[in-house]
Amino acid sequence: VSRLPEGYTIRPLRRSDYYGGFLPTLRVLTTVGEPTLTEFNARYDFISSRNDTYYILVICDETSTVVGTGAVIVERKFIHNMGLVGHIEDIAVAKNQQGKKLGLRIIQALDAVAERVGCYKSILDCSEANEGFYVKCGFKRAGLEMAHYY
Ligand code: ACO
Repeated sequence: VSRLPEGYTIRPLRRSDYYGGFLPTLRVLTTVGEPTLTEFNARYDFISSRNDTYYILVICDETSTVVGTGAVIVERKFIHNMGLVGHIEDIAVAKNQQGKKLGLRIIQALDAVAERVGCYKSILDCSEANEGFYVKCGFKRAGLEMAHYY
């Protein structure tokens, strides 16, 4: 397991992460919009009321600013003997913090959560450009993503 740089920490997302680097970090991944505090808190409270299903982690730098994040959502199946599958989503590391193994550390931590709660696998979708990163994290190409946007 890779170690974080000196002074960096990893922890679950908090309600107070509306302030600080969480939303800016997600903006390196995709459009986020400008959620109000009320909107953020409502989504946070929904997620935290399902804390056996949603696990959102953040990495903070030595100034306690969020500079990385990732999530795993535990799906409960009927197949595979009531199997559990981890869905890894929304992995992002702030641009000026990339290349310090923070992404790897986030994936390792999410993998550990998924394994601990009993998932038999974790899966994710990514672009071809990120395949090498996930291969370094121990994933292998399996299948093809399909999407239907509404
Ligand atoms: N292609 C190939 N190898 C890569 C890539 C890449 N795109 N990115 C990193 N690596 C390698 C690194 O060189 C390193 O290899 P090494 O161990 O041989 O030195 C290893 O993967 C680990 O890299 P990290 O330093 O942990 O990567 P980083 O912290 O920069 O995070 C990430 C990678 C998350 C992809 C980051 O670049 C990022 O936030 N990008 C923009 C948002 C994004 O695309 N997120 C992923 C979307 S897919 C999803 O969310 C399921």
